[in-house]
Amino acid sequence: MTLDYLEHFALSGHPFSKDIGDTELWMPPSKQSLVEDLTDAMHARASVLLTGEPGVGKTCVLRALRHALAPANFRLVYCQNTTVGRRDFYRHLCLALGLPKAATAGDLFLTVSTHVEQLATERVSPVFLVDEAHLLHQDTLDHLHILLNYQWDSKPLLSLVLIGLSELDDRLRLRRNRSLYSRIHHRFAFGALAPDDTGDYVRTRLARVGATKDIFSVDALALLHEAAGSSLRDTDRIAGAALRLAARRKKKLVERDVLTRILQAESEDRS
Ligand SMILES: Nc1ncnc2c1ncn2[C@@H]1O[C@H](COP(=O)(O)OP(=O)(O)OP(=O)(O)O)[C@@H](O)[C@H]1O
Ligand SMILES: [Mg+2]
Repeated sequence: MTLDYLEHFALSGHPFSKDIGDTELWMPPSKQSLVEDLTDAMHARASVLLTGEPGVGKTCVLRALRHALAPANFRLVYCQNTTVGRRDFYRHLCLALGLPKAATAGDLFLTVSTHVEQLATERVSPVFLVDEAHLLHQDTLDHLHILLNYQWDSKPLLSLVLIGLSELDDRLRLRRNRSLYSRIHHRFAFGALAPDDTGDYVRTRLARVGATKDIFSVDALALLHEAAGSSLRDTDRIAGAALRLAARRKKKLVERDVLTRILQAESEDRS
């Protein structure tokens, strides 16, 4: 039954699934230039803050960045489990770098920083990507800037990329976090998507699974944008549900009425 809508619209796979390759991501000029800015920052071993609301595509941009950095020159470490304390944070870092575990937070820190210096001699730039960084424990935040100090704070040996919800920026601006904040060279915030962006996104994802013509009417896309705003995750959910309903109604074009029905059902579920 689930697969019926794929057959109905002659699609080769689920268009709005999160399972999408790094090279198949939707990359409008605004995202492309963001990835270029991030890539330049990584080449300069600078640190970066990337903030935006849930579902706007922050983690997907990191995946595009991963694709843009040559594995021979960069060692990327992705940390997502940020709700742990400082010792476990460094333990995770050690594990991700393939380093031996140490018992104390101090020893773990030393292991990581020695490894970073070793990588520098091999001309490899480490990039620590901390996703969901708004959840970091304060004791980890207090310490993070020390990881950026090498050779008497004279050498940038690694890039720290902090990614999180918009409140992360507010949190880092607090006086207590100023040592870290002042070492973040670039701060990027995801702006709002325009209605045309939503249309472009939907068409791109549908084309990826074989759609050769428009499946959503212009009106339906406008309503979709109104409902989902800048959250591509919400766009995925609503657009997927609209495709399934249109297929059940044996329609080849998803029009405004289908979207209205889906949104109505969602608001009934919420109340
Ligand atoms: N550039 C893109 N190309 C294709 N799909 C995308 C892109 N950006 C986002 N998406 C879709 O939107 C979903 C949410 O994106 P993502 O996980 O990157 O959001 P996020 O900003 O990291 O959200 P959160 O703050 O909740 O972690 C993805 O699973 C994917 O389906
Ligand atoms: Mg994310």
